[in-house]
Amino acid sequence: MLLEDRSREYVEARVRAGVMEQDVADLLVETGAGERVVREGLVHHGIELQFASERHRIPLSELAGGRAIVIYGQTELVKDLIRLRLDGDRPLHFDVEEVSVHDLESDGPLVRYRHEGLGAELRCDVIAGCDGFHGVCRPSVPHGVLSEFSREYAFGWLGILAAVAPSNGELVYAHHERGFALLSLRSPDLSRLYIQCRPDEDLAEWPDDRIWEELQTRLSLEGWTLAEGPVLEKGVTGMRSYVCEPMRHGRLFLAGDAAHIVPPTGAKGLNLALRDVRVLADAIVDWYRSGSTTGLDAYSDTCLRRIWRAEHFSWWMTHMLHRPDGSDAFDLKLQLSELAYITRSEAAATSLAENYVGLELV
Ligand code: DHB
Repeated sequence: MLLEDRSREYVEARVRAGVMEQDVADLLVETGAGERVVREGLVHHGIELQFASERHRIPLSELAGGRAIVIYGQTELVKDLIRLRLDGDRPLHFDVEEVSVHDLESDGPLVRYRHEGLGAELRCDVIAGCDGFHGVCRPSVPHGVLSEFSREYAFGWLGILAAVAPSNGELVYAHHERGFALLSLRSPDLSRLYIQCRPDEDLAEWPDDRIWEELQTRLSLEGWTLAEGPVLEKGVTGMRSYVCEPMRHGRLFLAGDAAHIVPPTGAKGLNLALRDVRVLADAIVDWYRSGSTTGLDAYSDTCLRRIWRAEHFSWWMTHMLHRPDGSDAFDLKLQLSELAYITRSEAAATSLAENYVGLELV
């Protein structure tokens, strides 16, 4: 049984991230959810870093053993997964209310919820808590069991989706004295763009013209123009790093944002969530087939190795590219030196590339 407290319309419309590690796209194909990713996903073999008024390409695939990234909106993936589940006549309830989890330390943990006005109870073998950072699962673990590690950032991202062909063939991560900017895309005629802003930025102060003006300034490059188009969606994303350990209590297994958050720089959130779910699914299948709990017992440690690598990578990318209020000339010089190092040293560029496409941690 799959429970979702939002409506189908809401989850299928919410604009989220859009960069998938190749292994994650392959995983979707393997599980039968990849048909549209393969057809419509855009395979990219590099990204660009812009700083000091110049752009430098990082050839990801060349540096990272041929692996690439796939541009495909999380929103589209959510639609694909919902359709697959409903086509298979497997239960999925939207708009559930008052969800709570109980008896986590027993062999039969319980989920209570309301659906279409009626109270319901589900006695389970395991509960996968995939209910996000603000969900009910993590807070249901008794106090003192989980250790939490976190970092707040003094900025956010203001993002837009615009009906205009992307002005560049590859993603551009731009360092600028006025703050970070990112040029991304969703399809050949949909651009996705972000600018660094305050975490509590008021969207009312950002009419479309002002957003484009800021993007033009931060992404400007001699001999290149940023094409503008109608803004279809805009929003502010907060930035936070967070991990809780372990990702399990009794028969409750936390996955994705319920257990960890990365700042968006580097686009790791969706990838980590899908990889958690993969490890958990394999462990559950193995348990049903063989009776062995080895996979379930290793779940948290297995996932946390990858998660901490991504936590570091996202934190590092964030610090290298953003200009916090109050940062001084020394900070600026360090950032520029690091960016120059990445574009001049194959070792440094390789480190970025292998983390960006998704490191295999044996
Ligand atoms: C996108 C988001 C990211 O966080 C990122 O690093 C690159 C691209 C996006 O939404 O397209």
